[in-house]
Amino acid sequence: MAHAAHAADTQPDTPQSRADALLARMSLEEKVGQLHTIDASGPDPVGRLGGEIKAGRIGAVINQVDPDTLYELQRIAVEESRLGVPLLVSRDVIHGFNTIFPLPIGQACSWSPELVRDCARAAAGEAAASGVRWTFAPMVDIARDARWGRIAESLGEDPYLASVLGAAMVVGFQGDGLSRPGTLAACVKHFAGYGACEGGRDYDATNIPDNELRNTYLPPFRAALKAGAASVMTSFSDIDGVPATGNPYLLGEILRGEWSFDGVVVSDWDAIGQLITHGLSADMAAAARAAAEAGVDMDMMSSAFIDQLPRLVHEGVVTVDRIDAMARRVLLLKATLGLLDDPYGAAHRSAAPARQATLDLARRAARESMVLLKNDAGALPLDLAGIGRLAVIGPMADQPYEQLGTWVFDGDQTRSVTPLGALRGALGEHRVAFAPGLETTRSRDRSGFAAAQAAARSSDVVLVCLGEEAILSGEAHCRADITLPGAQLALLDALKAEGKPVIAVIMAGRPLTLAAVLERVDALIYAWHPGNMAGPALVDIVSGAANPSGRLPVSFPRSVGQIPIHYNRKNTGRPPQAERILYIDEIQVGAPQTSFGMSAFHLDDGYTPQFPFGFGLSYTRFIYADLVVSAGEIARGETLDVMVTVTNSGERFGTETVQLYLRDPTASLTRPVRELKGFQKVALNAGERRTVRFTLGEGDLAFSGRERRFRAEAGRFDVWVGGDSTADLHASFTLRD
Ligand code: BGC
Repeated sequence: MAHAAHAADTQPDTPQSRADALLARMSLEEKVGQLHTIDASGPDPVGRLGGEIKAGRIGAVINQVDPDTLYELQRIAVEESRLGVPLLVSRDVIHGFNTIFPLPIGQACSWSPELVRDCARAAAGEAAASGVRWTFAPMVDIARDARWGRIAESLGEDPYLASVLGAAMVVGFQGDGLSRPGTLAACVKHFAGYGACEGGRDYDATNIPDNELRNTYLPPFRAALKAGAASVMTSFSDIDGVPATGNPYLLGEILRGEWSFDGVVVSDWDAIGQLITHGLSADMAAAARAAAEAGVDMDMMSSAFIDQLPRLVHEGVVTVDRIDAMARRVLLLKATLGLLDDPYGAAHRSAAPARQATLDLARRAARESMVLLKNDAGALPLDLAGIGRLAVIGPMADQPYEQLGTWVFDGDQTRSVTPLGALRGALGEHRVAFAPGLETTRSRDRSGFAAAQAAARSSDVVLVCLGEEAILSGEAHCRADITLPGAQLALLDALKAEGKPVIAVIMAGRPLTLAAVLERVDALIYAWHPGNMAGPALVDIVSGAANPSGRLPVSFPRSVGQIPIHYNRKNTGRPPQAERILYIDEIQVGAPQTSFGMSAFHLDDGYTPQFPFGFGLSYTRFIYADLVVSAGEIARGETLDVMVTVTNSGERFGTETVQLYLRDPTASLTRPVRELKGFQKVALNAGERRTVRFTLGEGDLAFSGRERRFRAEAGRFDVWVGGDSTADLHASFTLRD
């Protein structure tokens, strides 16, 4: 008897069988309850949601991280609901949890998948220790518009770089398996095309032809899913007239069909309800149906599923099989996360990463995210020991919160060390003269200029921290004018008038147009929002203790009018040849109309960006030579090596990011003039030389062609290797059929 009872109690032991067993016992209402994600922030979440949880009508909560509240919500789910299915606790863990790392766009400047992975892993450890098990990251939307506030949250403009780094982030969050302590289920977002919003206005429509969709916008999603991402979030935007959240082509044909993705698809916040506002669905019932039939499993916040799906099933509009498939995916995720055995996350609480190690990682990440954009006459590094006094100026010099950037709900600003704090620590209080000059980056009040000028006058060098506060980028925070806001430029003028070397540090969530700034400074470090350890990382860089190695993951436009501008553009039938930035001044008044000699450029801003993709200076110099391809011709299935010699010809140790670009000059669809297909970071001592080798295979040459098949087309290929996307060392080879 005892033996029989024991056998009957034995749990089926795979996550799949456990999910199936639960599903078999569920009522329709309970199944639909699993599909409902609800906000648990605000006053009295237990009072507000307890009854619904008990009734099995909530599958996941978002935006609650208080341990006692989470415990009570989970206790109700586990002990008081009929089947005891635990809640999934979700949160936007984007670039850190309590410890904040650089913005994703900053992390992307490291071109280091290992670093990006480690930051995500540490963030997961901290978040899981607080009860969170599902993060809405990585965001792998290709971002080519600096006006768009969410460029801050992106990995830049390039499909290859975003693929490599997005996949690394997934591996970081999910670790060696979701049942392991300190892991989070990743959610790759926003599927798809969100970054292509018209005018850089968040949420606006996108128009992306299939070629662009498949060759530019989708590859990072594919890479994140290949890395094992457990879930996908749909985009708010519409694409070619069909909102992504109700888009059967995107969700059904591509994601579930071509890619065989069988994990959870969640809508963005209220995006199902917004199908009505978009003009796709007449009411909530139609919206719920459109989303469910397209392929969405979970409804975040619109309540369309919980309110409408049971009735739609009873009416025979939506099938029970469909609801079963949706609920099974959610249950499977919960089982895979180990929630059925450890709903309160005891195992994760003891797995939180050590505070100091996490701060050390944040410092390294901040250091590697900073990009040196100008350094005239060796203005940097500074000899901190030799300097009499340093003026530290600017509205971003001492802002423990603002230096964190967007999406830092749980960020602990008491862990921040500001540039001012770190420089005072390095130099001693008495050798730092501090005056912010402006209260905020948007201030127009110049009453602080006199004190800032006095500080400059009494110092040997001026270090000025400018930029944008955190709230000026991120979701729903787009700008039409992307110059430095407020009177910051005037502050630079005032400082320059004092005649001391001026080092500018810009902390911002987007590329700003910098022409006017560059004219006024001797050196410029683009620091993005570096996170908690902005100050120590900056001291590492300005002192020369670390040699800057950040490289831009996005082109910096000269002006807003150049947007969209990205290196992997099309050649066009009239490609620009030599750059003419101010051609407008050369055209004679009364000149007759002509298009001869003209090409795809702006009369008043040329066609090149202010800084190209891949660019970043170092305190040393790297010289490229001897580009060699191992074969002039390869057959399908064969590989070929591309080798180049890189020499550190300067006087310091430094790290170079060696970048390989490819072009398919003749194809069934016009292809970009260059595409990044590989990169390697190489650390070289002064005078050291190394041969760097890339191996290219057929897969690297492939793209989605006119037949919509991902495949390499035979013919000639051009290859460039160098330190940025303008690299001129060039070779060719042929792929033969
Ligand atoms: C954003 C998502 C985010 C969600 C939950 C939405 O407004 O677009 O990226 O994950 O909110 O906070």
